[in-house]
Amino acid sequence: MDLKDYNIDMKKIPKHVAIIMDGNGRWAKKRLMPRTAGHKVGVERVRDIIKAVDKLNIKYLTLYAFSTENWKRPSDEVGVLMQLLANYLKKEIDELDRKNVRIRVLGELDRIPKKVREEIEKAIIRTKDNDNIVLNIALNYGSRLEIIRAVKNIVEDCSNEKLDIERLDEEKFKEYLYTEDQPDPDLMIRTSGEQRLSNFLLYQLAYSEFIFTETAWPDFTEDEFFKAIELYQNRNRRFGDIK
Ligand code: FPP
Repeated sequence: MDLKDYNIDMKKIPKHVAIIMDGNGRWAKKRLMPRTAGHKVGVERVRDIIKAVDKLNIKYLTLYAFSTENWKRPSDEVGVLMQLLANYLKKEIDELDRKNVRIRVLGELDRIPKKVREEIEKAIIRTKDNDNIVLNIALNYGSRLEIIRAVKNIVEDCSNEKLDIERLDEEKFKEYLYTEDQPDPDLMIRTSGEQRLSNFLLYQLAYSEFIFTETAWPDFTEDEFFKAIELYQNRNRRFGDIK
């Protein structure tokens, strides 16, 4: 199927799409494979979705790759996830750069293994001036911690007189989040049937449309993504208004 086979209005494309890539483990288990096999196939879907985002001219894509809670998983699985991310960046960085993708990380890199961290830092620096797509990788990310971090920085800036508390409003507060100057997601997709936010972008998703699909992330192809965009375009976004 080609983009023209879908009922997508190119004038109503969401600016920012955020995705909770869930279900890798269950997908693998169903096939009697180790959970990590699901993560490996999941990386292929990351590749597909970035291509689809490029075709649709979506400007911001946020992928939930690893939460602050994911450290509780067995260390082998954590190790594989970190390795997959490093390999992905090593292998794909030329292509991402060619597509004019800017890589950013939402989360704290301090706990990320050194080799992986170096790969990420290299990718961030190399792509810092790219301006076609922003790819946010939420890594060691937790939304409550993000908000607490923002509050701490605000208090510090107030005490250094860099910020006047009277000037703190929603727009100003946003600048203290990892997403800083980026627009809020218009659409949040979670794969694999769970209907919850799992500490993902709690502030930024206030007015976003949510799509929950039964499809597990390793099966979430370009076709599934385009269908999600069709669904999104049929929603009526009012932002509290009545029209
Ligand atoms: C959720 O499935 C998925 C994750 C915790 C990791 C997602 C990571 C990748 C797809 C690979 C690396 C990322 C990038 C950006 C290259 P789960 O393990 O929670 O599945 P389950 O709910 O079935 O157990």
